[in-house]
This record gives sequence, structure tokens and C-alpha cells, in this order.
Amino acid sequence: MKDKLQNIVSEALSQINGSEEMERLNEIKVAFLGKKGELTSILKSMKDVAPEERPKVGQMVNEARVEIEQKLEEKKAAFTKKLKEEQIKRETIDVTLPAKKVATGHRHPNTIALEEIEDFFVGMGYEVVEGPEVEYDYYNFEALNIPANHPAKDEQDTFYINPEIVLRTQTSSTQVHEMEKGKLPIRMIAPGRVFRSDEVDATHSPSFHQVEGLVIDKNVTFADLKGTLQEFAKEIFGEDTKVKFRPHHFPFTEPSAEMDVSCFKCGGKGCRFCKGSGWIEILGCGMVHPHVLEMSGINPDEYVGFAFGVGLERIALLKYEIDDMRLLYENDDRFLEQF
Ligand code: DAH
Repeated sequence: MKDKLQNIVSEALSQINGSEEMERLNEIKVAFLGKKGELTSILKSMKDVAPEERPKVGQMVNEARVEIEQKLEEKKAAFTKKLKEEQIKRETIDVTLPAKKVATGHRHPNTIALEEIEDFFVGMGYEVVEGPEVEYDYYNFEALNIPANHPAKDEQDTFYINPEIVLRTQTSSTQVHEMEKGKLPIRMIAPGRVFRSDEVDATHSPSFHQVEGLVIDKNVTFADLKGTLQEFAKEIFGEDTKVKFRPHHFPFTEPSAEMDVSCFKCGGKGCRFCKGSGWIEILGCGMVHPHVLEMSGINPDEYVGFAFGVGLERIALLKYEIDDMRLLYENDDRFLEQF
């Protein structure tokens, strides 16, 4: 009997030792200690044992059970520990690894420049409005004092939809829409896309953007125009920026001027950036022509105004020292990522 017990125990222990996973331990437990297990069957055969031997055999069986149970517990604990260790290893985070780069979008240089321009003028009480890109010839030309056969029409190579409808060549057309509304005074800027049948090169594109400005009120003077645009230039190009107004001609303003800013690269001494002159042209402007006011139903004896038009791409290119306009339209990530 003793030998039999001994064999059962050593068989159980060797199976426990040899087991490779937790589930196996349960099977072993059932096989040796379960209702139909080997130890139990020995207890069942107690009736064959002499009565005086029974307590001793009973004790031996119990000891055998305790030994197997202990071994099972030990092995279970070892498995649990191993599993825990593996889990910790699996879940370890190496904090020294470089982080994954999250690709974020960037604002387009045009957008950045436009938002700066809008912020400045909105801060001065201007409204931001939009006009149509497909426009009657009347709004794009005639109402702006550019009648048929006027040479200015040739200067802006126009895309015609039909003889009366064009893709607007300038945001100045929005001036007319605003004036026609009949609500005075007016303080507005009108950003938007314009179209000209130009070949693509470093400084030209058949589609680009302008920001138009218009102020109509009583007692507006050229000094107001100058002051406003001077502050605008400082806002965009820096506090030290100087401005210069050169006489020019636009059909819809009288007098008209072009505004130059002192070169922010060389401070006005002359460099490659400003082509040696120290100045960079940035916009056209002037006092709204009385004829233009009249055509849109505003009495030029009562109201006066000033207007200006600035090329958005030009501002963006200058601000970021970009030397080819095409970069603004190609949507190359490597370019856009820099802003
Ligand atoms: N529309 C003109 C252009 O495209 C720019 C311009 C000049 C707009 C003078 C104005 C202005 O409002 O007063 O060349």
C-alpha cells in the first residue's frame, strides 16, 4: 500500500513538474485528487485493509494528498508569476523611443496674409464682404469708368464668358455692388479671386487674389487714405516700414497713386530684393472718381471716398521671401509645411 501511494505521489509530482500551462494543473488535480481520482480510489479500497492498519493508511493517504496539493499550489504560483512577468514585459513602454510624428495641417501663406490683412481692417471698423467671381462687364469695367474701347481694358486680359459676362479681372467690381446697396457710409474690404489670361511664370498666374478696400463718407480726404495705408504697411511689414505714394493713373480714382514700402530686407539701402531701389511697390489706390460715385447712385457733392487694391499673393511672397508665385499653387507638402 505504501509503495502504491509512493508511486501515485511521485507520478503526480512528475506530471506537475512537467506541466507547461495552468490548465494542465487542473487536469492533474482531477486525475489524482478528484472523486474518481487515484487517491480517492485508494480510500475506497480501505475496506480491504485490516482495521488496525486503517488509521495509519488514512494518515498516509492524507499526507500524500497534502503533498500533491502543495506541489500544485507551488506550480500554480509559479505559472501566475511567469504570466505576470510576460504581461509586464509585453506592456512595457520605452519612453526613450522617439514619438510618432502627428501630421498636422498648415495654413497656406495666402491665408495667413489674408487673415492679417482682415484683422487689421476689421480692427479699424471695416466690414469684410465678397463679390461674385463671374461678373457682368458692367461691374468689372463700365461702372468703374472703363468704357468699351478704353485702353485699360486691354491691360487686363479678360476671360469672356460672353460679350456681357466676364471672369472678374479685379475685385474693384465689388466696390460697385457695395455702393449700389445705397447704405452709407461704407467701410469695407473685399478679398477674392480674380482672373486674367496671363501665361504662368514666377510672377504671373491666370488666377490670383486681390483685396479691395473702399471707404465712402462725408469729408474723407487723401490724408485719411495715406494714414490708413501707412498703418496697414507697418502692421504687415513691421513698425519701421516707410511708405511712399507715387502719382499713377487708374480710371476709377482721381487722383490715383501707387504705394511703395521701404524694403524690409535692406531697410531702404537697396538690395537684390528691392532691385536696388530701396522701395517695393505693393498697391494701387486713390480717391474714388466722382463719375464712379454718380454711376452707383451716390451724390459726389455730398460724399467722397478712397479706394485701394492689393495683390494678396504679392503680400504673401514678400512677407515670406518666396521668389516664385507658382509655389503658392502647387500644394507641395514640403513647401506648405514651412508655414
Ligand atoms: N483694380 C486695380 C488692379 O487690379 C487695383 C486698384 C488700384 C484698386 C487702385 C483700387 C484702386 O481700388 O483705387 O490693378
